[in-house]
Amino acid sequence: MGHTDERMPVFDPVYPMVENAVGKPNTRGAHMSIAATVSQAVLSRHSCRSFSDRPVNRETVRDLVEAARYAPSGGNLQPWIVHVLSGDSLARFRRIMAPKIETAPLGGGSEYHVYPPNLKEPYRTRRFKVGEDLYGHIGVARENKAARVRQFARNFDFFGAPVGMFFLLDRSMGPPQWSDLGMFIQTLMLLAREQGLETCPQEAWSAWHKEVTEFLDVSPELMLFCGLALGYGDYAAPINRLRSERMALTEFAHFHD
Ligand SMILES: Cc1cc2nc3c(=O)[nH]c(=O)nc-3n(C[C@H](O)[C@H](O)[C@H](O)COP(=O)(O)O)c2cc1C
Repeated sequence: MGHTDERMPVFDPVYPMVENAVGKPNTRGAHMSIAATVSQAVLSRHSCRSFSDRPVNRETVRDLVEAARYAPSGGNLQPWIVHVLSGDSLARFRRIMAPKIETAPLGGGSEYHVYPPNLKEPYRTRRFKVGEDLYGHIGVARENKAARVRQFARNFDFFGAPVGMFFLLDRSMGPPQWSDLGMFIQTLMLLAREQGLETCPQEAWSAWHKEVTEFLDVSPELMLFCGLALGYGDYAAPINRLRSERMALTEFAHFHD
């Protein structure tokens, strides 16, 4: 499975190697056509916000979802429910959503708090910083609200990806099961790197939860967590040059020897 994109070197020298907190170089930021190891998958995964129109093989997508089911879950509840849209179904969904997004580019409102209300420090600053970095990469100034909204609304086109996914879970599930679902999604995103595919997880879709669940025709017992864009990256797009920052190891890890 998988394809090698001849145009992409395994490590793109455009992206400087960065030093991690213990001074070892890592490859975070390197564009990698195909990740061959788990470390390469972890370091080369990033949120891709512009996709090429190169189609993704149906079987490849199926295989990814099938392999991701080996993610762990507390009590082996496997609380994840996944819906995959591509081809005609994605085209139909895009047609339904387009006029709605035109009138409400930020969506209709989420049924859960995507961030805690009154987000406290240091989280607030981190959130602000990644937003500034993102808009900085595409030359959109802070004051240019219209351009920011337009960029945000690209979420609702799955950033041009040929495959869109939605992840749901039963409303009776609590934080531990939401965490299980997160592990499932991360497993899927890392496996995608092994196929040379890029992803972007998208909580933004929670703002269109009514429309999404109606389209998917799912039981009201299910709740939408997020979407995910999947496809081959458009490596020429400036927005895909963003590499979000991370805390140093010493800021979050405590080793009790
Ligand atoms: C559950 C989840 C939901 C996210 N939702 C969105 C989203 O709706 N739109 C978006 O552009 N990025 C979204 N992101 C991407 C984050 O902004 C991104 O993961 C973070 O800034 C770290 O950058 P990286 O993924 O490039 O390493 C989401 C990430 C996660 C884990």
